[in-house]
Amino acid sequence: MNMSYRILVADDDESILAVFRAIGKKTGHIVSVYADPRKALEHIQSEEPDLCIFDINMPGITGLELLKKAKEKYPETEVIIISGVATVENAITAIKEGAYDLIQKPFANLQLVISAMERALEKRRLVKEISRLRETDSEKGFCGIIGNTPAMQKVFSTIETVAISDSSVMITGESGTGKELVARAIHKMSSRKNSPLVPINCSAITETLFESELFGHIKGAFTGAFDNKKGLLEYANNGTVFLDEAGDIPLSIQVKLLRAIQEREIRRVGSNETIRIDVRFISATNRDLRQLIKEGRFREDLFYRLNVIEINLPPLRERREDILILASHFLGKYSTKQNKDIKGFSPETVAILENYSWPGNIRELENAIERSVVMCRGSLITVHDLPAHISKGYQPANTERITEKYRDARRRMIESFEKNYFAQLLNQTGGNISRASEIAGIDRSNLAKLLKKYPDVYKKSRE
Ligand SMILES: Nc1ncnc2c1ncn2[C@@H]1O[C@H](COP(=O)(O)OP(=O)(O)O)[C@@H](O)[C@H]1O
Ligand SMILES: [Mg+2]
Repeated sequence: MNMSYRILVADDDESILAVFRAIGKKTGHIVSVYADPRKALEHIQSEEPDLCIFDINMPGITGLELLKKAKEKYPETEVIIISGVATVENAITAIKEGAYDLIQKPFANLQLVISAMERALEKRRLVKEISRLRETDSEKGFCGIIGNTPAMQKVFSTIETVAISDSSVMITGESGTGKELVARAIHKMSSRKNSPLVPINCSAITETLFESELFGHIKGAFTGAFDNKKGLLEYANNGTVFLDEAGDIPLSIQVKLLRAIQEREIRRVGSNETIRIDVRFISATNRDLRQLIKEGRFREDLFYRLNVIEINLPPLRERREDILILASHFLGKYSTKQNKDIKGFSPETVAILENYSWPGNIRELENAIERSVVMCRGSLITVHDLPAHISKGYQPANTERITEKYRDARRRMIESFEKNYFAQLLNQTGGNISRASEIAGIDRSNLAKLLKKYPDVYKKSRE
């Protein structure tokens, strides 16, 4: 498909402008031509072109000056410089200032000019595509993990670092903080991503079955072993094993696991034959393994094998700024799933969600939002839609005595509303003001003015 782009041409030579008019007709691009560079500058002030083509020598403003102005205002706009005598010096200055290409006049053939233009436009298209991808990414979070707080940003950068290494990773944190999500992200970003990730829930396997689950067995190894069976470690070969609730691995198994990790080989129960395995271990625990070591319930040597790198996920109550972002994310997910058109949360609901202690962390928040979406009959989730144990500590505002002046109370409410609204909006657009202004239906300059009132909101969205 041929897209039509906006192209701006400035050249004091009328015959050159005629060429670009013709190119416009031929290619279907919207070409605006100016013999007067000042007019071209005015055009730049009011509208962003996809591609600018400037003659280097013009009376009044030179092409290099226009190039600078255009790049300053629109860093992603591509610029091609036309020059009569293409001196090396001109070329270097132009490229240094960000020009994409140089073409020499008189034009040897029209097709060369068109190709140079198409190449520049292709680059522009790619840049746009990448920034679009980045925006959708920030809505979906980092590999599906949502969180804007510094604590979570740190987790994301650790994930990136460990993903490319092959070291064992131990993820710690309370139940529901996203440990499994992080394990999956590491696997997905690692070179093992095309091999399986095998989760093993160590608290769900009985001690007697543990060994055969991990290492497999051969026919007749024990009563009930009717067939040869592959163990989970063998299934995970070339991939990743996720040892969930690693603190619950029985001591007798810990010894065998340690051996398997050290020797990189296993033996099926009942067999003498060793099998080479190449797996990466990621484990998770909500228990304090160092304490279990002291109590003699976890082997220290295994601990150090599994815990080469530790990632700690803070509980949700320690990163309250993420609550609303997560809640909005789940609201979107479940209202789509349940085919409901729910726009957001009432202000009291936001206050409750942000102040509740979330002992079950994100899992509890997700359940609460799913349930609220089921209950909700209007376009906003209200206090009554929340599970009772979450809303019960809440005092409705009208039982409080008013001590504040109307004007102050109103200003406070507006500021708090604006702050939430813009934080969510900018988070959604990844800090892109133009997109935000489209969604909000306010023009860009007004939005920028409003945002000046909340510098931390804007700053956060750019981090
Ligand atoms: N940061 C996050 N962003 C989005 N969803 C999350 C996040 N953390 C956890 N979840 C969701 O919460 C639930 C519990 O996460 P999980 O990884 O199973 O927690 P844990 O293993 O720590 O108990 C899952 O449904 C998961 O998708
Ligand atoms: Mg879990």
